[in-house]
Amino acid sequence: MNRLQGVSGAMEFPGTVRRYDGLAIFFHWAVFLLIAAAYAAIELKGFAGKGSPARSLAMAAHEWTGLLVLVLAVPRLLWRLVRGAPPAEPGSRWMHLAGEAMHWVLYLFIFAQPILGLLTLNAGGHVLTLPGLGLQIPAWVGPDDALKDQLEEIHETLGNAFYLVIGLHAMAALFHHYMLGDNTLRRMWRR
Ligand code: HEM
Ligand code: HEM
Repeated sequence: MNRLQGVSGAMEFPGTVRRYDGLAIFFHWAVFLLIAAAYAAIELKGFAGKGSPARSLAMAAHEWTGLLVLVLAVPRLLWRLVRGAPPAEPGSRWMHLAGEAMHWVLYLFIFAQPILGLLTLNAGGHVLTLPGLGLQIPAWVGPDDALKDQLEEIHETLGNAFYLVIGLHAMAALFHHYMLGDNTLRRMWRR
């Protein structure tokens, strides 16, 4: 059978789905799960009584899952810049541009949101400490009440706004899959 050299450099059979590579797929869904956990933890914190162990646990879970997002965001972005993305599925120019713009906004978010969270914590006079091991992430800014309020406001506003952005992104993926019947979701699913 005739084989073609794909844009990513991988060998592909004509007519097969041109997918993201395994590592890109791993990064996408691992970051998704961590973000879902960070959101769940901060929402659960709201239900726990002030000063209760459950509240501290929920906050710690929020901070650590959020930090892991940043830890994965770095190799993820590097991998994306090195490997590129598979060619887009057939569609109008505006659809491709909107999809591309949305992806870069999401990349920005997975860097900005954890950094803002970490800065909020530091400006509030705290450092992130790994429970049990006593491992600390050094503070990036010193205690500053006014700065803390501003950072927290931005972190919370962005966090709440991204419920909508992530929702739109997920709905677009489902729309492609179920309404347009193309391979957009499949190519981000598994090898
Ligand atoms: C992608 C990762 C993250 C997401 C999606 C996220 C999202 C959110 C959301 C939605 C809120 C609550 C907004 C509200 O109450 O209206 C929040 C609060 C907060 N987050 Fe994050 N966050 C992330 C990472 C982090 C990290 C890494 C830290 C610190 C290490 C952090 C520290 C905080 C703090 C201190 C608050 C205020 C909590 C409070 O006092 O109620 N966040 N975050
Ligand atoms: C926290 C949530 C999410 C974030 C931060 C996120 C982020 C991203 C980013 C940055 C890309 C671009 C990948 C690249 O070109 O390198 C992408 C692609 C994609 N995402 Fe998500 N995503 C999230 C949730 C979801 C969910 C829930 C779904 C499905 C229901 C989904 C389906 C897809 C699909 C199908 C693609 C490939 C689109 C294409 O090839 O044009 N994502 N996502």
